[in-house]
Amino acid sequence: MSSSRGGDTTTAPEIKWVDVTTLGELWEGEVLDVEAAGERVLLVHLPGGELRAYQGFCPHQEVLLADGDWEPDDGVLVCHGHLWELDLRSGIGINPAGCRLYAYPTETDGETVRVGIPQDGLRHHNRCSGT
Ligand code: FES
Repeated sequence: MSSSRGGDTTTAPEIKWVDVTTLGELWEGEVLDVEAAGERVLLVHLPGGELRAYQGFCPHQEVLLADGDWEPDDGVLVCHGHLWELDLRSGIGINPAGCRLYAYPTETDGETVRVGIPQDGLRHHNRCSGT
């Protein structure tokens, strides 16, 4: 089993692990919109094999990030709503700057991909400066 930890809190809330897909359904260079424990999640399989999981709506308005255009080689996703640019390797906004996608932890167990949903009672959302 391998895992990566995300999130933007300094404490460690209890995590509920949810099976969301398999590596056969999410090849390197692909993104996938999934639901995990009632949360919308954008799964990202980066070139080289690392996984990322972010809150699935654009930080601007509630448009699904998975519907945007993603260029795996430079990691940049362009939202189809109003063309904001986000780096899916880091989860940081490029244009405009000052946005950060909420990152969930991920893990794999064989072919199974899991996302960890913090059980902290908070709404997990993407953030921009001033919001
Ligand atoms: S909804 Fe994504 S840029 Fe406006």
